[in-house]
Amino acid sequence: MNSTRPAAVIILAAGEGTRMKSSTPKVLHRIGGRSLVGHAIHAARATQPQHLVVVVRHERDLVAAHVTEVDPDAAIADQDDIKGTGRATECGLDVLPADLDGTVLVTYGDVPLLAGETLVALVEEHIGAAAAVTVVTAHVPDPTGYGRILRDASGAVEGIVEQKDATREQRAIHEINSGIYAFDAATLRDALGQVGTDNAQGEKYLTDVLGIARDAGGAVRAHVVDDLWQTEGVNDRVQLATLGRELNLRVCEQWMRAGVTIVDPATTWIDVDVTIGQDTTIRPGTQLLGATTIGAEAVIGPEVTLTDTEVGDRAEVKRAEAHLAVIGEEATVGPFSYLRPGTVLGRQGKIGGFVETKNAQIGDGAKVPHLSYAGDVTIGEGTNVGAGTIFANYDGVNKHHTTVGRHSFIGSNSVIIAPVDIGDGVYVGAGSALDGDVLPGQIAVARGKQRNIDGWVARARAGTKTAAAAAEASARHTDDTDSGSDA
Ligand code: UD1
Ligand code: CA
Repeated sequence: MNSTRPAAVIILAAGEGTRMKSSTPKVLHRIGGRSLVGHAIHAARATQPQHLVVVVRHERDLVAAHVTEVDPDAAIADQDDIKGTGRATECGLDVLPADLDGTVLVTYGDVPLLAGETLVALVEEHIGAAAAVTVVTAHVPDPTGYGRILRDASGAVEGIVEQKDATREQRAIHEINSGIYAFDAATLRDALGQVGTDNAQGEKYLTDVLGIARDAGGAVRAHVVDDLWQTEGVNDRVQLATLGRELNLRVCEQWMRAGVTIVDPATTWIDVDVTIGQDTTIRPGTQLLGATTIGAEAVIGPEVTLTDTEVGDRAEVKRAEAHLAVIGEEATVGPFSYLRPGTVLGRQGKIGGFVETKNAQIGDGAKVPHLSYAGDVTIGEGTNVGAGTIFANYDGVNKHHTTVGRHSFIGSNSVIIAPVDIGDGVYVGAGSALDGDVLPGQIAVARGKQRNIDGWVARARAGTKTAAAAAEASARHTDDTDSGSDA
């Protein structure tokens, strides 16, 4: 077992988050495709704790259900009516074994940029120094609102004083408490038992543990971080957007360093769980969301939104939207295409301009190039679907499926009225409204037969410019025939 493996991480997420002005609990708001508490859990998991606890209270059921969904192994602790970070931590300890020993980390559910590596470094420093408490601190330009770190003449940490309880001199301190700590489990348990609520906010402060631990002879230390983003919390939607943008820049930077060209990181949004292959180019205005995966040497963008979509190597996707779709190797999509769930485009296949697809399996090298709707259809390899073809899948009550075989050719502007089975090596005449099966090798033409009626314009539209043009054309035709016979 890893000796720096903490016994537990307790994530505090019971607060109300009133400044979000939202019916959604604060920690369920998302950046980078992951909830704020999801980010906190992800960072905590990097330390491989034996126990992970999330303390909840406000909108308890919603938060607990979400936590269980993202991390079924996480324990949920309910905070009671006593307020404060100290009480929240105590409630977290209550769901853990009473004799728990080792290191207990405390973090917040609303600090999404905290990196797992920072927590790992914190644990190493804490254990290496055999400390009772190690608090993550930062030197910030504007410390307003934060707890201030008090150090003695030798520079050793003495304790933390909250803004509301601080003197003028203490408020001038720029080293702040991030709210992230490593504690010796027994020290934490004992000290919390002594913490009262006699302070400006009438709360049980977790910060009081530092002074108590120090008075009991324990070593209290600070782990100073330079990357201030990592300690920043979300309190309102302005901070949500600010941290969301910073997270996105970090994700873009990580992919650029891994060999992906991102033309404009400022207009490219990549969720944290997306993966991208080497030498792929992402053009401006692109959003890669959810569990999207992109192969190598692909070109994505401009103006593409892909959600939970898989794109193969060397594929090209421009000005398109796709959700739960698969785009094969060397396939091309766009511009202006809409791929809905269940779309699977084969290798070197094409979904072209103004095409919408849904539950459509389009084979290798098959093409739906222009102005089509392909819903509930399986199209074989090498088949070409002419411009304007509609696979009419809905009869007003039920959806039906159509199958088209290999190397077939659907003429432009056809309506294929499902359910229909069109075989391999088939032609369908342009403009057909087809509702019957077609066997391999057949051509099917399902449209009114052309009829030409001589002299109709002269009779029915006499005196119009149309009639005059027709008369002139027929006179010219007679002259041409005459001169031809002279030669
Ligand atoms: C706290 C710290 C302060 C530090 C700051 C960093 C205390 C007493 N103060 O202040 O020193 O600089 O964080 O952001 O710890 N929470 C609960 N239950 C509660 C109260 C809070 O779970 O009863 C959770 C909140 O959901 C939040 C976190 O604890 O995630 C911090 O709470 P918040 O009210 O923001 O703490 P501050 O007063 O800002
Ligand atoms: Ca806060």
